[in-house]
Amino acid sequence: MKDASAQSNGDTTIRVAAVAPSEHGKILLVDDDPDFLSSLSDLLQPEGYEVAVATGAKSASSATAEFEPDVALLDIKLGTDNGIELISTLKQQRPGLACLIMTGYADMESAVRALREGADDFLTKPIDPINLIRALRRCRQQQELERRNREIVTALKSSEERMRAITTNVADALVTIDSRGLIESVNPAAVKMFGYESSELIGENVARLVDEEIRAEHVGKGPREVNGTRKDGEVLELECTVGEAWIGSERVFIGVMRDISERKRLEAQLRQTQKMEAMGQLTGGVAHDFNNLLGVILGNAELLEDQVGAEDPYVQAVIRAAGRGSELTQRLLAFSRLKPLQPRVLKPAQLLGGMSDLLTRTLGETINIQFLTGDDTWRIEADPAQLESALLNLAINSDQAMPEGGKLTIEVGNETIDRRRAAGIADAVPGRYVTITVTDTGAGMEPKVLARAFDPFFTTKSVGVGSGLGLSMVYGFARQSGGFAVIESELGQGTTVRLYLPQVEAESTAPEIGSRTDAPRAKGETVLVVEDNLEVLDLSVTLLESLGYKVLSASEGVRALEILEDAPKIDLILSDVMLPGGLLGPEVVQRAKRSRPDLRVLFMSGYADATARSSGLLAEGATVLNKPFRRYDLACQLRVAMAGIPGPGQKA
Ligand SMILES: Nc1ncnc2c1ncn2[C@@H]1O[C@H](COP(=O)(O)OP(=O)(O)OP(=O)(O)O)[C@@H](O)[C@H]1O
Ligand SMILES: [Mg+2]
Repeated sequence: MKDASAQSNGDTTIRVAAVAPSEHGKILLVDDDPDFLSSLSDLLQPEGYEVAVATGAKSASSATAEFEPDVALLDIKLGTDNGIELISTLKQQRPGLACLIMTGYADMESAVRALREGADDFLTKPIDPINLIRALRRCRQQQELERRNREIVTALKSSEERMRAITTNVADALVTIDSRGLIESVNPAAVKMFGYESSELIGENVARLVDEEIRAEHVGKGPREVNGTRKDGEVLELECTVGEAWIGSERVFIGVMRDISERKRLEAQLRQTQKMEAMGQLTGGVAHDFNNLLGVILGNAELLEDQVGAEDPYVQAVIRAAGRGSELTQRLLAFSRLKPLQPRVLKPAQLLGGMSDLLTRTLGETINIQFLTGDDTWRIEADPAQLESALLNLAINSDQAMPEGGKLTIEVGNETIDRRRAAGIADAVPGRYVTITVTDTGAGMEPKVLARAFDPFFTTKSVGVGSGLGLSMVYGFARQSGGFAVIESELGQGTTVRLYLPQVEAESTAPEIGSRTDAPRAKGETVLVVEDNLEVLDLSVTLLESLGYKVLSASEGVRALEILEDAPKIDLILSDVMLPGGLLGPEVVQRAKRSRPDLRVLFMSGYADATARSSGLLAEGATVLNKPFRRYDLACQLRVAMAGIPGPGQKA
């Protein structure tokens, strides 16, 4: 193609050749007079035409095949052959061929007939050269225009096909809307997204699909979030970008919509996880410090009790208040996943069996409690006391949600969570879980309450009734035990809370700790206490002495090792896990054991420190006493440690 011009149609450019110089072209001359043919030839060749000649219908036909002319100039009378009939033969043979007829002046009738039969023009004999050249030029221009039209149509067709392929295959919904807001077209993605047939949408107002008008001022403003509604009523969260186009004089809006419901759900899930994490750190920090203070208060109150007698009301009030305070900090620690747990391998169904009496007594008489447990439920490894406490919290919540009475169902089952399910639940990882499901027929929660139910201190109950820590404890306990918890609830439709606790294979090896009698006393042993909080250190020394132990003390690891080197006899080291000065409690113990392999050990900890646990320092035979501790617990744990028996949950 020489000399090309461009025409733009959207992003597709169609290239069409310009009209070629009309002088040039191949002309087939057909006449039974050879002299006339040669004189015409002589006239045309100098004008730039390529010329071939034929004297009859047959030779005209073969010349058409070989020479491929653009124009045939035919005499209407070809001896025995008929020029008019030849027109259709040649045109059939070579579509696009232009045919000019030459007639005598007298034969206008034949000329009209020839035009009717498909001739493009006619010339009268004798041929005027100027008229001939003009007629040929017109033919060539006409042919060029037709060729150009054909190219445009082909280009348009292919661009239309391309556009259709794009709109058909694009994942976003494309909806075009006229200036009145009526839908003009929808692509297959829109049909799928909104669940309508396209015929149900064309001509309808776009308000049928989205809750916001698509307006001129939205054009080119970047994506906006709108709500869409499917035919089945489901609400979709959409990101909508509006473009505009002029089709002729008509203004059209193009809405590009993407379903972001899933993305929004994941974002909300992530926000929730981050919020819980941040709150956990905050509450954990506060609870840890309060724990130490409460430990000191409680311990000293117990020592005071020894002196003034157990009946003293003031001392009892202090012990009770400190006890309640420590219950609160324990729930906070549980939420923060920092509560030192004493996990044991157990079957929740059995534990539940043991709780039925307690629950029946605790809950109102109008509550009908049902336990559903299969025989073949898997084992879990969890702190039984904490699990009981979690279930009690749930049962009390249900009880409070059913003031008029109702049904409480506690069900234990097995469930395998695959990757796809796990992706849909905050905090969940794939695996096999034992589920404990607590369902009530109570008031249920509205979405606002449901969204915050696990938050610490979130309560809808009046002051003094709820502290907002029940579900927080349940949540933290499930997470710290390697599982997770979910709530389903609707206002007026009751509530279901389900704990997922990971399945374990092993049998329990931990022995029970003895029952609560008088605190067991020392049998002449010496204890080295290592604790950086001086008040806790003082208290521990005093408590140990009150139990009859000889006591040495250090406030950090290096000093403890010096004492261990010098002192002739130390039976047990009672050490905090987290110590300042570069040596953690377990590291002090490790070093000490090199020279004193039979040294007994008992750790104390305000919270289950992740670094100490994950570093494996506490893994082997380590027993941990949870702060704040009662004197009785300290005394018992000391006797267990002195005897070299591993504590609950520890390996022998
Ligand atoms: N079974 C339930 N039915 C209806 N609402 C519930 C249920 N369980 C919890 N809630 C809602 O969630 C909130 C938080 O519960 P959570 O157990 O954490 O705290 P609380 O019961 O208010 O106080 P606390 O448990 O510390 O005494 C409740 O105040 C209540 O609005
Ligand atoms: Mg509660």
